[in-house]
Amino acid sequence: MSHAVTAVVLAAGAGTRMKSRTAKVLHEIGGRSLVAHALHALSGAGASRTVVVVGHGREQVGPHVEQVAPHAQVVVQHEQNGTGHAVAEALAALPEAVTGTVLVTYGDVPLLEPQTLAELLTDHHAHDRAVTILTAEVPDPTGYGRILRDASGAVTAIREHKDATDDERAVREVNSGILALDAAFLARALPRLEAKNAQGELYLTDVVAGAVAEGGTVGAFMLADPVQVEGVNDRVQLATLGAELNRRTTERWMRQGVTIVDPATTWLDVTVELASDVTLLPGTQLHGATRVASGATVGPDTTLRDVVVGEDATVERTHGSDAVIGAGATVGPFAYLRPGTELGERGKIGTFVETKNSRIGAGSKVPHLSYVGDTEVGESSNIGAGTITANYDGVTKSRTQVGHHVRTGSHNVFVAPVSIGDGAYTGAGTVVRQDVEPGALAVPETGQRTIGGWVPRRRPGSAAADAALNAAPNLEDNAGE
Ligand code: UD1
Ligand code: MG
Repeated sequence: MSHAVTAVVLAAGAGTRMKSRTAKVLHEIGGRSLVAHALHALSGAGASRTVVVVGHGREQVGPHVEQVAPHAQVVVQHEQNGTGHAVAEALAALPEAVTGTVLVTYGDVPLLEPQTLAELLTDHHAHDRAVTILTAEVPDPTGYGRILRDASGAVTAIREHKDATDDERAVREVNSGILALDAAFLARALPRLEAKNAQGELYLTDVVAGAVAEGGTVGAFMLADPVQVEGVNDRVQLATLGAELNRRTTERWMRQGVTIVDPATTWLDVTVELASDVTLLPGTQLHGATRVASGATVGPDTTLRDVVVGEDATVERTHGSDAVIGAGATVGPFAYLRPGTELGERGKIGTFVETKNSRIGAGSKVPHLSYVGDTEVGESSNIGAGTITANYDGVTKSRTQVGHHVRTGSHNVFVAPVSIGDGAYTGAGTVVRQDVEPGALAVPETGQRTIGGWVPRRRPGSAAADAALNAAPNLEDNAGE
């Protein structure tokens, strides 16, 4: 018997309670949309085909699904006439009659794990059932469909909350909504569904009683971890499941050798990768394709998106995106790494420093109060405190080149395009407008003009004047000039 699996992800619902202009399944937790989580869970299902049913917000959801799961087929359900109708529409859109197994999941159930679906399918196939229901016992079953069983314990039906009697509502085993179904049985059962129920909808869940009536086998696969089947209906549940996902993600990394001092204030996207012996300090958020190598310390209070942090590097109180930090380098506190920043091994981007589209070579340092944009710094150079690269003349952006073993003085401006050769120095306060040759010293053109006795003359009687006269009594002689 063929066990080819067709996965159907239901995501056509309105999500009214989110009160959002963004479709419900596009809201994110752990750096991934709800529907992308649902599609990720399917990686455990070995499905040969995936159909995503969209309806409300389909102009947003459709393109998103095509982007995150190009192999999936998007089917539009124009009117939301219930879960049974949604599955019927999905199957009708396929080029040929479906065979094997149909796996139904929901786009708004983000914590479901691939392994759970793998186990559900194994159980379904091992018992050769018409329907296997993924169930869970929950503390508060309000709103869910209840699993009804006969005296022998065999499943007889799923009763929706709104259609259930008080006795039936007392049942705490609920339908997660995730079902594995024999495709041939499903094809027979769907056309028989009727909307004779409290919500006037075609309930997919009614196929269970249908299977029992035709003598087919129905089973429940009960999940010990009910959080995996919790859905998101409002932003309170979004935050609750987001926190739970983060708790699971941080725990997974801690078990793999990452020190996380305060998991509650450390937020990790599910896509982030950490090596063993990484230390994350409180208030750290790592997003996207961020990767941190062994021995590195990140935080406290650091946000990195798509940043690669090298071995043994330190990144303290920093905001960074699309950047590469070399092994043994140090960043921060209070650094802002903008896209295109590359810091070499053992390099330093220090305090109150902003960098953009710049490569700072191995062992080179930008320690204090600087802006470095569109710049190339060679190896083992030191950029003085308070340096600004003037990279934009209002029309075009130009680059600054700084060589190896360069020492630039404090408070320099590099007016790009300009280059400073290997081994060159610049003095404090230099505005570098012309290229500096290797080994040269550039200093400001005009020297300092000092006007003696100015303060006692022009600010007589002030505290400054008194202090000056105290230090240099001879100034008194010409104070009246
Ligand atoms: C459904 C189940 C219920 C189960 C619960 C678990 C039915 C009849 N009921 O109830 O047994 O305990 O989920 O959360 O199946 N959808 C569509 N098109 C539609 C209707 C729904 O795509 O026409 C999608 C929704 O977007 C959602 C899912 O199907 O992702 C479930 O729909 P919802 O209306 O939330 O069903 P529940 O009443 O919660
Ligand atoms: Mg629901």
